[in-house]
Amino acid sequence: MSGDPKHIVNMQLARERASSPLSAQPRPFLRWVGSKRWLLKQMVDSLPSQFATYHEPFLGSGALFFLLSPTRASLSDRCSELIEVYKATKDDVSAIIGYLRPLQPDREVFYAMRNRRSRGRLKRAAEFMYLNKTCWNGLYRVNSEGRFNVPYGMPKTPFIADFANLRACARTLQAGDVRLRACDFETALESVESGDLVYLDPPYVNGHNNNGFVDYNEILFSWEDQKRLAKRAQQLADDGAYVIVTNAHHNEVLELYRGFACHTLGRVSTLASNPGRRVRVREALLCSPNCVG
Ligand SMILES: C[S@@+](CC[C@H](N)C(=O)[O-])C[C@H]1O[C@@H](n2cnc3c(N)ncnc32)[C@H](O)[C@@H]1O
Repeated sequence: MSGDPKHIVNMQLARERASSPLSAQPRPFLRWVGSKRWLLKQMVDSLPSQFATYHEPFLGSGALFFLLSPTRASLSDRCSELIEVYKATKDDVSAIIGYLRPLQPDREVFYAMRNRRSRGRLKRAAEFMYLNKTCWNGLYRVNSEGRFNVPYGMPKTPFIADFANLRACARTLQAGDVRLRACDFETALESVESGDLVYLDPPYVNGHNNNGFVDYNEILFSWEDQKRLAKRAQQLADDGAYVIVTNAHHNEVLELYRGFACHTLGRVSTLASNPGRRVRVREALLCSPNCVG
């Protein structure tokens, strides 16, 4: 999948887009815990200005992917429902918009939709987007039977999706060679070659947080997973890939990435339901030595 020609990043455009996270197109069309949409402005100057294939194996809402809009990309996530949404958007965004257009945020519609599993991948993708927009904090969580179980979030706007942006995202997914699959990061990274850009954004270990986020993350991504990831990141960098990692700004984490340059990013934590409990946290942007910045 790799080799020339290279994707050359228009840095001026990337900076402009990163500075307008609410209006730039394309921008993430899903809300996602840990989305980097609000950190792009701080990240953009640390990115290499050219690369062959872009790899993002913890895709989530794909904030960096949509910012760079590379024409050759390997995108993946362990969450198969999420990947199905991207595939459906790539294949037939008009049908999805057709399902979403008549819908408004509504508690009864939300619970009826949450309790059924529609047939048809395009309809299911539209329902995923509706639930994502109207649920509490854009959280994606399933019960032991794999059913989405996040409560209604009482959205403040009557707005389900920005259809122009959704179409722009579909065009980005359709352009060139953008591949999507549901798998563990290690499988996804098998195809990386020298000169590729790899962006790694795993669920964070956040040891200073007492609100349940630690337990939630331990299930999602254990410390053993963090070590497995760091080892793979070091190998990829040694083999000539540009590797960028975002992670918690904790000494234990930083030690896993010896030799990588560490930049400190700041953000306001948005996981707490009570806005008064939102706190400023530091995150780390770790760049392999061959990246500029
Ligand atoms: C912090 S989020 C990524 C956010 C993304 N960068 C964005 O801008 O929205 C981490 C993602 O990793 C995925 N994930 C968790 N464990 C994984 C694994 N072992 N392999 C691949 N993806 C995994 C989760 O489903 C989640 O979407």
